[in-house]
Order: sequence, then C-alpha cells, then structure tokens
Amino acid sequence: MKEKQRREKYNFGQLTAVAHSNIALVKYWGKRSAAKNLPAVGSISLTLDALKTETTFQFDASLNSDLFILNEKPASEFRRNRITEFLNCLAGTDRPFARIESKNSFPTGAGLASSASGFAALTKAVSCAAGLDQNTESLSTLARMGSGSAARSMHGGYAEMKIGDDAGGSDDYAIQLYDEGYWDIRLLVAIVSIGSKETGSTEGMIRTAETAPYYKAWIESSGTDLVDVRRALASRNFTRLGEVAEHSCMKMHGLIMSARPSMLYWEPGTVELIRTIWDLRSQGTPAYVTIDAGPQVKAICRPQDVDRVKQALESVPDVIRVIEARPGPGAYLLNK
Ligand code: DP6
Repeated sequence: MKEKQRREKYNFGQLTAVAHSNIALVKYWGKRSAAKNLPAVGSISLTLDALKTETTFQFDASLNSDLFILNEKPASEFRRNRITEFLNCLAGTDRPFARIESKNSFPTGAGLASSASGFAALTKAVSCAAGLDQNTESLSTLARMGSGSAARSMHGGYAEMKIGDDAGGSDDYAIQLYDEGYWDIRLLVAIVSIGSKETGSTEGMIRTAETAPYYKAWIESSGTDLVDVRRALASRNFTRLGEVAEHSCMKMHGLIMSARPSMLYWEPGTVELIRTIWDLRSQGTPAYVTIDAGPQVKAICRPQDVDRVKQALESVPDVIRVIEARPGPGAYLLNK
C-alpha cells in the first residue's frame, strides 16, 4: 500500500482504551472451531469494575515489527505473536506496525481473565485506529477472535455470548442482557497465587475436547444452565443465580480434571476457600463459589454480606489479598 493511502486509511494518533475483566456465571469451555475461535457453548458473564486493563495503541510507520509492552515490560514472544495475529485479523496484513502498551490493575495470566479485558481494550483501540464499525456487537465479534471471554467484556453489566449458525463466526458475539446499574451483586476475588497458570485456556480447551469422557455431557447440559441464569437475572433471584453459577463452575472443573493428561488449576488454598464459602452458607450467609482457569476463588455475594464474606476469605492462611468487585462498564475510549 502506498504511504498516502495508508495515511488516509489508518489513524496514526495515539488512542487509549479501557476494558474490564468479567467473570462467567455460566462458563465457556470448548471450541467448535479452534481456528476461528468459535465457542462450543454459550456463556453468561458479569463485567467487573475492579479488574481493568488500560491500553495505549498507536500505528507507527517507523517500526519494523509490532512492539508490545505489558505491565511496563516487553511481553513474551508468545503474547507478542498472539497480538500480531490478532492485529492482522482486524486491520489486515498490509497495516503499519503498532506500538501497544497495556497495563492490568490485577495479576496477569493467573485465572483473572486478563485476556478478556486485554483483548477487549485492544479491540476498542484498534478498531478506531483502523476505521472499523463501532457497533458494540461488531466489536464483540472482533474481540472474540482474540479471546472468547473478551467478546463479553465489550459490554458492561451482564452479557451473554451467543453461539451463531454461520461457520465463519459472523454471528458469534456477545449481547448485553442488563447494564451495570441493573442489579448490584458483588464478587470477592481471593488471590492465593500470582504465578501464571500451567496450561492456558486455549490449550486446555482443545485437550478437554479431544480426551475428556464428559465433554459431550458438558455441551448438552449447558443450555439448561443458560436458561436458569437468564431466569435468575430476570427475577433478581440471588440464590438461584449463585446455585447455578457454582454448578457451572464445578462442572467445568470436573470436566477439565477428566482430560488426559489431567489438568488441575487448583492449589491447596483453593480447596480451603471452597470449604470456607460452603461453611458460610451452611451458617446462613448466601455466598457461592466460582473459579476460572486458575487457583483464585471468587465468592459471589450480596452487598450486605460483603464484610462477613471478606473476613472469612481473609482468614484462610494462603490468601494474599481479597479484591472486591461490583458490576462494571463496557469497553470505552479515553481519547479519540
Ligand atoms: C475458564 O476466553 O481465555 O475463564 O477463547 O481460548 O482465549 P480463549 O479462552 P478464554 O477462556 C475463558 C475460560 C474461562 C471461562 C469463561 O470465562 O467463560
């Protein structure tokens, strides 16, 4: 492409975007196409105000490769390649190279969905720099190509990732069910380890689909969980929501453990936290467990129970810190 055409097609200004991580209440695990990153099951999530990524993006004609700084350090080759591939998908292979600086407000790669907020923030910035359609559903389709969970982080509040019919994935995107002001529930994230996980979600999903004997049952039973959570949200039924969210989480981890070779994202502190939350519940405090592909345990609770639940989580010796999150906003640009 000629330099003049490039100048017209791309915005060479510096853009900063913010996106928040999300927690799946009904989990996504498994792909119907790994190449196009199409999920095998639908999922429902809550976007979280306290866990955010801020990304500054700029096309730069003087670079001869993409530059990716993550949390103030050059990113690993694996992460840089993933970003380059993603930018090629969104902006084309004849695009200029880009300078990307990204900062997470929480530990990266430790099961706190940093890829969700990371790819959502990047999608928002790149789409603007490359002059793409800014409709949230189109952006969600693009974010999904980076990471399935990122499609949900384009929206604030409660979002549902839909499974489309198109083999190309044009209708596999997340929609907003309710915005962040709809229902105030809280998520307390108990951090027990800040090391990166052994097996990333993408690899873990592929291994599960190929080897886990319960995979078919996982796919077949996900529709019921989606219906139950949609109903619980519509009627703001906290007990129902917590119960189904905990079930979806435990079912996903059981499935993951059943893969060959088996995978276990939990640490001893994870198990102790599950028991702590179950004890709280048996003593009358409604709190429910959810865990992603990492050792951190998240307690879903009501605002009036936050202090009690937080104190119980902090009493577990392996807990490094507890982060309180509320429903958060969708991805947005800080400047244009
Ligand atoms: C356990 O979205 O990280 O957090 O699409 O391969 O990037 P890729 O996977 P990713 O997986 C998230 C898995 C999960 C459950 C969830 O967020 O629904």
